[in-house]
Amino acid sequence: MDKAKNENRTFNIAIDGPSGSGKSSLAKRLAAHYGFVYIDTGALYRTIGLFIQKKGFASDDTEAIVSVLDEIDISMRLIDGKGEVLLFGEPVGDEIRTPKSSVYASDVSKIPEVRTFLLNLQRDIAAKNNTIMDGRDIGTVILPDAQVKIFLYASNEERARRRYLELCQKGIKTDYRTVLEDIIWRDKNDREREIAPAIPAEDAIMLDNSALDLDGTVEAAARIIDERLKK
Ligand code: DC
Repeated sequence: MDKAKNENRTFNIAIDGPSGSGKSSLAKRLAAHYGFVYIDTGALYRTIGLFIQKKGFASDDTEAIVSVLDEIDISMRLIDGKGEVLLFGEPVGDEIRTPKSSVYASDVSKIPEVRTFLLNLQRDIAAKNNTIMDGRDIGTVILPDAQVKIFLYASNEERARRRYLELCQKGIKTDYRTVLEDIIWRDKNDREREIAPAIPAEDAIMLDNSALDLDGTVEAAARIIDERLKK
């Protein structure tokens, strides 16, 4: 019975870490390499944040945010092996990627009701597909039984440099100092929250990619995963 259960189990890889550590670039490459589904869970919190922003609520108005949660119709569909977030059935675009949206996402993610609201959506996908999921609490809360857990991190300055270039490429106007300050603020906000703080799972493998480019990071992570797949 147990054996049959195990045979049906999907293989899940959790990639957690602070913003700008390169989780999504890494997860996308690994998903393509192993033929797994890629899920960016930050996009879910960003979408809730966008909805709240459009409602005209402050990002820290917990009572108002909780009171409208059941109005939100959020779902995910898989397109080319990637989870696409739908809000009221429509794909959300780069609107969820602005610095203001990052603040909203980080603030709404501190609310226990928001996290509970998004829990099953994430777990259901991982239960049905071999999945690489990136976020902050994947290894600790969402998929505590994931077969591989990687905690990806890099220095504040390096993460700010990467995020700054990314925003510039998207045509979002900002400057390096502001991005660095945002990163430091958001790390603290995500790490020190009471629920599902953004910290490594006890059994996560720590991967510092401050001195690695994307190829180097992919190679290092693939070595960790291949080792686990052999077992
Ligand atoms: O990964 P990201 O930067 O797009 O995430 C945006 C915010 O969402 C981040 O500041 C913290 C929150 N988040 C979270 O609390 N848990 C996750 N699994 C993913 C993101």
